[in-house]
Amino acid sequence: MTTRRGLLLLLPLLAAAGCAGPPTPAPTPPAPEAATGWTDKPLVVARRQIAAAAHPLAAEAGLQVLREGGRAVDAAVAVQMVLNVVEPQSSGLGGGAFLMLWDGREVQAWDGRETAPAAADGAMFLRPDGTPVPFQEAVFGGRSVGTPGVLRMLEAVHREHGRLPWARLFAPAIALAEQGVPVGERLHRQLAGDPLLRRDARARAFWYRADGTPHPVGHRLRNPALAAVLRAVAQQGSAALHEGPIAQAMVADVRGHAVPGRLSLADLAGYRALRRVPLCTDWSPHWRVCGFPPPSSGHLALMQMLGIVDALPGVPDGAAAVHAGVPGPDWLHAYTEAARLAYADRARYVADPDFVAAPGGDWNRLLEPAYLARRAALVGPRSLGRAEAGDPVAAPRAQADMPAQPEAGTSHISIVDADGRAVALTSTIESQFGARLLSDGGTGLAGGFLLNNQLTDFALAPTDALGRPVANRIEPGKRPRSSMSPTLVFDRRDGSLTMSLGSPGGAAIPHFVAKLMTGTLRWGLDPQQAAALPNFGSFNGPTVLERARFPAATLEALEARGHAVQETELTSGLQAVRRTPQGWAGAADPRREGAVRGD
Ligand code: DON
Repeated sequence: MTTRRGLLLLLPLLAAAGCAGPPTPAPTPPAPEAATGWTDKPLVVARRQIAAAAHPLAAEAGLQVLREGGRAVDAAVAVQMVLNVVEPQSSGLGGGAFLMLWDGREVQAWDGRETAPAAADGAMFLRPDGTPVPFQEAVFGGRSVGTPGVLRMLEAVHREHGRLPWARLFAPAIALAEQGVPVGERLHRQLAGDPLLRRDARARAFWYRADGTPHPVGHRLRNPALAAVLRAVAQQGSAALHEGPIAQAMVADVRGHAVPGRLSLADLAGYRALRRVPLCTDWSPHWRVCGFPPPSSGHLALMQMLGIVDALPGVPDGAAAVHAGVPGPDWLHAYTEAARLAYADRARYVADPDFVAAPGGDWNRLLEPAYLARRAALVGPRSLGRAEAGDPVAAPRAQADMPAQPEAGTSHISIVDADGRAVALTSTIESQFGARLLSDGGTGLAGGFLLNNQLTDFALAPTDALGRPVANRIEPGKRPRSSMSPTLVFDRRDGSLTMSLGSPGGAAIPHFVAKLMTGTLRWGLDPQQAAALPNFGSFNGPTVLERARFPAATLEALEARGHAVQETELTSGLQAVRRTPQGWAGAADPRREGAVRGD
């Protein structure tokens, strides 16, 4: 699990592009989420149907549903429920999600993002002196819990597009929660390293031994509380979670916590999933890329970056972009400068569209070729270091920029069914283990499901030092800005679906998705090879490179152009499926425990 075999395997695949240089260790900033190893994975090619998810048991549950004639949407429900059992640290009933759907005719975007409780306000993360509490302090406890939305969203999509009965889709998760699943290596390491989770009595009793060390890898962990909650939801639908005794227990958990929150029964009962208009953007003459609109910043950042790179003269493309098996300094310079410009716009503009207007009334204004060309004109031979937000519609600047905040605890699912319908679903409880609050749903049984800390995806301070409002400030009922980028790519020539992909990774998600799309659709790699490429990006500060994956010469070439280079973990969790002449080719990120199953 912990070797660098994947790099060694990858290098010959990219040998056409140059020769291997030695990896360069360097001092790094702290990683937002513990890296837990590397596992080489095969590309899986399936003729008929395919499911890719962050855990083998989840992918298997998805495939089984497809084999029974289920649609991609049916499989997605089953996969999400199994993930709640086997990868509880990342997503589940206590969180939110965005789902992109291709139903064979149209692309749809379903929003199950958490909402701020009605009693939330912009000052809830401020200390008496008006400064925001430190980020980790903000994460822990009831205060950061937003109203969960994933279940209501899945129920709404299933009602319109599902084929198998709702209750059937819960059977695999209920069985696994009852029988127990072995603690995996990734979960074990995250449990061992997490500084906060042991402070929650239920979580401590469930995941740790009496001496405070986590149950060992392979220990079979039964989750009777989650099994009971899943059984209720299977029978009664989302009402079982959003109303009645389970809702009452969640509210009591949040409000009774040492760091109390403001979630109410009315918030839970009133939660509504939304259908949004997806953003679809042409990329080169070949591809049309459809992704999630605000409150996600994902598609906007992704397509701004890719569009700016294409608007820059002389940027190497194809194999010429790759040196020594990794993207070379010329391409990285262009990409990370584009990233600075895109993340500056993200900090200025992107927030819940029900509260904050798009510049010029349309988010697509941020993606217009003429605007991206103006932004590209700001890129020179030396790094900008830090970019300013642009002005797509010559609007007066009333808004402050949102400062960067760490983010970490999410899962991505990509599925294509036998009829060619497809799902890209990214689902999250925000941090690993969310708010570190394990709710037993009032069952009194061991285990349960984790509640999200999604309210820390809002700016913790509502204004900047000059008192100007941040677009992504907390307001009652508002959905926090996200970076999740569930993405469907289509062939512009015939409109057919080419790819479904996405990743966890917080603010880095658009970079991970951009890497996989560029690696496959521009550099000729298969999705597994592209997932294994080293990660890179910028959040409008330093240029960040995946630790020990780039040759010293690349770091030096970037530094010579004025880049402040930092090496860090950049633990992506990409899942992708791509159409090929042989069938659907599926990939799971070597950095996590994901798997692809198909036939
Ligand atoms: O919605 C978002 O963008 C974040 N809450 C996602 C966090 C995440 O991906 C953490 N993953 N490792």
